[in-house]
Amino acid sequence: MAALLRFITCGSVDDGKSTLIGRLLYESKLLHTDQLESLAADSKRVGSRGGDLDFALLVDGLAAEREQGITIDVAYRFFATERRRFIVADTPGHEQYTRNMVTGASTAHAAVILVDARSGLLTQTRRHLHLVSLLGVRQVLLAVNKLDLVGYSPEVFAAISDEFRAFAKELGVGDVGCVPVCAVDGANVVSRSGHTPWYGGPTVLDWLENAEVTAVDDAAPARLLVQWVNRPTAEFRGYAGRVLQGVLRPGDQVRVLPGAAASTVERLVTMDGDLAEAVAGSSVTVVLAGEVDVSRGDVLAAAAAPPEVADAFQAHLVWLADDQLLPGRRYLAKIGARTVGFTADQPKYRVEVDSDGRAPAKTLRLNEIGVANVHFDVAVPFERYTANRDLGSFIVLDRLTNATVGAGMIDFALRRSANVRWQQLTVGEQSRAEQNGHRPCVVWFTGLSGAGKSTVADLVEKALHADGRRTFLLDGDNVRHGLNKDLGFTDADRVENIRRIAEVATLMVQAGLIVLVSFISPFRAERELARSLVEPGEFCEVYVDAPLAVAEQRDPKGLYAKARRGELANFTGIDSPYEPPEQPELRLDTTALEPEDAARAVVARLAAMGVI
Ligand code: ADX
Repeated sequence: MAALLRFITCGSVDDGKSTLIGRLLYESKLLHTDQLESLAADSKRVGSRGGDLDFALLVDGLAAEREQGITIDVAYRFFATERRRFIVADTPGHEQYTRNMVTGASTAHAAVILVDARSGLLTQTRRHLHLVSLLGVRQVLLAVNKLDLVGYSPEVFAAISDEFRAFAKELGVGDVGCVPVCAVDGANVVSRSGHTPWYGGPTVLDWLENAEVTAVDDAAPARLLVQWVNRPTAEFRGYAGRVLQGVLRPGDQVRVLPGAAASTVERLVTMDGDLAEAVAGSSVTVVLAGEVDVSRGDVLAAAAAPPEVADAFQAHLVWLADDQLLPGRRYLAKIGARTVGFTADQPKYRVEVDSDGRAPAKTLRLNEIGVANVHFDVAVPFERYTANRDLGSFIVLDRLTNATVGAGMIDFALRRSANVRWQQLTVGEQSRAEQNGHRPCVVWFTGLSGAGKSTVADLVEKALHADGRRTFLLDGDNVRHGLNKDLGFTDADRVENIRRIAEVATLMVQAGLIVLVSFISPFRAERELARSLVEPGEFCEVYVDAPLAVAEQRDPKGLYAKARRGELANFTGIDSPYEPPEQPELRLDTTALEPEDAARAVVARLAAMGVI
C-alpha cells in the first residue's frame, strides 16, 4: 500500500488556504474503492458524522485526543494520488489557532504554510512556522500564493522565500521548500504554470509526494504502548497496543516500563492470525512469556535499550485555556495511556513566537508557549519529544472539569528526578503520637478576611494547649511576614502561599502536632492539595462562614474600605474570588455563634474524629 503522508496547512485569513486545499482535492480525488468502503464502515460504526464519512477516523491518535476531551476544530481531509495517500489537517486561523495547530501538527509529517504574495511574511506566519517546528514538523513548504496579483514577479517570490528560509534556519527547520503559487488558476499546485518559467522547483503536489514519511522509525529500539490488557479467557492474557517505533518479533527480550520487569515476546496476535513481526505504527496484541505484571499505560521496550523513567522534566508548555497556568497548582497530565498528577513550576521563560526571543514570565496565558520544570506524581517511561512524539508529549487537564488546559513536550528529565530519593527514618508519626498522647492533625480554617478565622483558631489553640496537647498555629498574616514575604495576592501567589503552608503543615503533622492553619485559602484546589498530603482522618476543614456583607461591616483592619476605594487590588470577595468548601468537616456560622462557642464546636469535632 502506498505511504500515507499527514500534513497540516496554516495560513492567515484570506491567504487562500481553502482554495489551495480545494485544488489538491479536486485535481487528485483518487480514493480507492476499498479505502472508501472501509472508511464508510468505520464511519458508521464509530464515526462522529451520523454515519456519513468521517475522515477524521483515518488519523491515528485522534480517538485518544477525543478521550482527552480536546475540542477539535480541525478538519481532516483525505485524498490520494497514484503515488501516495494524504491526510491534510486544515486548521482554522482564528484566536484558538494554537489549540488547533497543536492538534493538527502533533501527528503531521509536513506543513504547508501559505502567505499572500502582496503582504509577504506576517507575524502570524512566523508564529505558524515556530509552532510547527516546536511540534516536531521538520519539513515545511512555503506556498507564496496570489502571485498573479504581483505580476508573477520572480523578485517578490525570491524576497519572501529568502526571508522565510532565514527564519526557518534560526529555528533549526532544515527542510524548507518555497513554491510560487496561484491557487485560483491552479498555478504550480498540481501542474506547472506557464506564468513562472523562471521557477524550476516542484509543484505543491510534487513536494508533498516526495516528502518523507519518517515519523515512525523501524530502525529505532522497539517500544509498544499498552492501551489495554486483553483477557478474554483465563488462559489468554495479551497486551494490546501500538508499536511506537522499532519492530517487535517473537523471541525478543523486552522490559516492561516503568517497573523494569523482564520477559520475552511469545506471540504477536491479530484478528487475522499471528504475526512474524509488528512494525512501527501497527497495532498488535502481545503475549509475553511467564508471569509478568503489565497494566494500561506501561511500555514494552527492547530490553537492550529501554526508555528512561522519570517524574520531573523540563518541558515546553503550550497553554490552551482562558484561565492562566498557576504554577504549583495540581493538574492532571495524560502521557501515553496514563493519567498522573501534574504540577508546573514558575516558567523559566516565555517563548516570543514571532521572533524566537525569550521573555520572563510568571505564568502562561492562552496561546502562550513557555519552558518550565514540571513534576508528575509518579515516574513514567518517556522519550524526549524530538525522539518520539508519542512518549515525549503530554496533555494537561484541569482536575475538576477535566478540560484540556495545556499541551507539553518533554525536553529532558531533570537529573534530580533520579537522584533524590526518600530517606527511611526510624522515629515515625505513630511513635510520636504515642508520646504526645494524641494523634496529629491539620485543622484548616478557611473563609473571607474578617470572617473570624484567626480569632476562633486562637481560642481553639488556647483550649488544646491548656489541655496539654502539642499544637502550633500558622496564621496567614504572620507567615506572610517571613517564609512567604515574597508573595502577594495574585492568584498565582495565593496558590504558592497555600502550597507552601500545606507542606509546612504536613511536616508539623509528621512532627506529631495538632496544626491550626488560618489562611483565607480561597481556592478549593489548594485546600484539596493540603488535604491530600496527610492521611485520611488527619485533616479537619473548618469553614468560617460569614457573608461578605458581614465581614465587610466588621472590617477589623479597614482593608475592605481600602479595597472599595480602589486602593487595594485583588481583595478577596471584592475583586478576587473565594470558593467556599463543598464538604467541610465543620461549618461555623459566625453570624449566629459567639467565638467561644465556635471554638468549642471545633474541639468537639476533633474529639469526634478521635484526634484528642
Ligand atoms: S490567602 O488568600 O493567600 O490565603 P492569607 O490568608 O495568606 O491569604 O492572607 C490574608 C490576609 O492578608 C488578610 O487577612 C489581610 O489581612 C491581608 N491582605 C492584604 N491584602 C489582601 C488582599 N488583597 N486580599 C486578601 N487579604 C489581604
